[in-house]
Amino acid sequence: MTDRLTTAGLLLELEPVVETNLNRHLATAKEWFPHEYVPWSQGTDFDGVLGGTAWSEEQSALSDVARTSLIVNLLTEDNLPSYHHEIAQMFGRDGAWGTWVHRWTAEEGRHGIAIRDYLLTTRAVDPIALERARMVHMGTGFENAYLDDTVLHGIAYVSFQELATRVSHRNTGKISGDPICDQLLAKVAADENLHMIFYRNLLGAAFELAPNEAMRAVTDVVKTFQMPGHGIENFGRKSVQIAMAGIYDLRIHHDEVVIPVLRNLKALDTTGLSDDGEKARDELVEFLAELDRQATRFSERRDKIAAKKAARS
Ligand SMILES: [Fe+2]
Ligand SMILES: [Fe+2]
Repeated sequence: MTDRLTTAGLLLELEPVVETNLNRHLATAKEWFPHEYVPWSQGTDFDGVLGGTAWSEEQSALSDVARTSLIVNLLTEDNLPSYHHEIAQMFGRDGAWGTWVHRWTAEEGRHGIAIRDYLLTTRAVDPIALERARMVHMGTGFENAYLDDTVLHGIAYVSFQELATRVSHRNTGKISGDPICDQLLAKVAADENLHMIFYRNLLGAAFELAPNEAMRAVTDVVKTFQMPGHGIENFGRKSVQIAMAGIYDLRIHHDEVVIPVLRNLKALDTTGLSDDGEKARDELVEFLAELDRQATRFSERRDKIAAKKAARS
């Protein structure tokens, strides 16, 4: 197969793979309803127009970090119009690509609806702060960081990003301490997993069509990966809190996101690479070793802090 395909050529070559995977996705994805996962009977009016009760922190049964993580996950989902714009621009809105883009958007739309309904009904978060944060976050939008690169960079990014989002929702549910929240986020995470499989399969096909370019794309993306919600206000501080709680940290990123995708693609064992492809793979291997070292360092530091805290109490 020829390497150095044009974007249009690559999209065309991948169209049958998109169609097969779209059909597989539609056959696998189970319909579900967000409203079934929200404990509506716990809901009460807020102050303001309806003259109900203002939100205050003691109404929330969630820990501070569970709240932070749910807010980050929700704001991330809220930016869907920007994601839709980016992927519609990248993949187009025609044929199987277009069908996927719209279907994916509809499924993602469910996530923000479900999480917001849960948070407001259970008074888990400050609704005014949440709305203001949403306005700020959506006001800055989201831009595909790989616009100047190949479409393969975009496909590589979403393959890792969907898995990262899955893990983040799943672990947030687990630490929430609320079985209702846990169930809801498990459903959301299951959607993200199917999205990851779709994109990962495309990336696998790209490795067959254009192995050197696919390797370069994967290397660039793994080396520069940022969560989709990285533009959220105070994201740095929030992500440290989330990492300290073990919801999403470097160890998880390395072991449960980056490595599983690479292993599934057999990316590190790709044969027949040109010098450029080999160079990209060497860079990737070197980066993974450093990521692994950093992950270990972070976990050790966190353990030390936890031990000190335990000794003090
Ligand atoms: Fe989502
Ligand atoms: Fe997704």
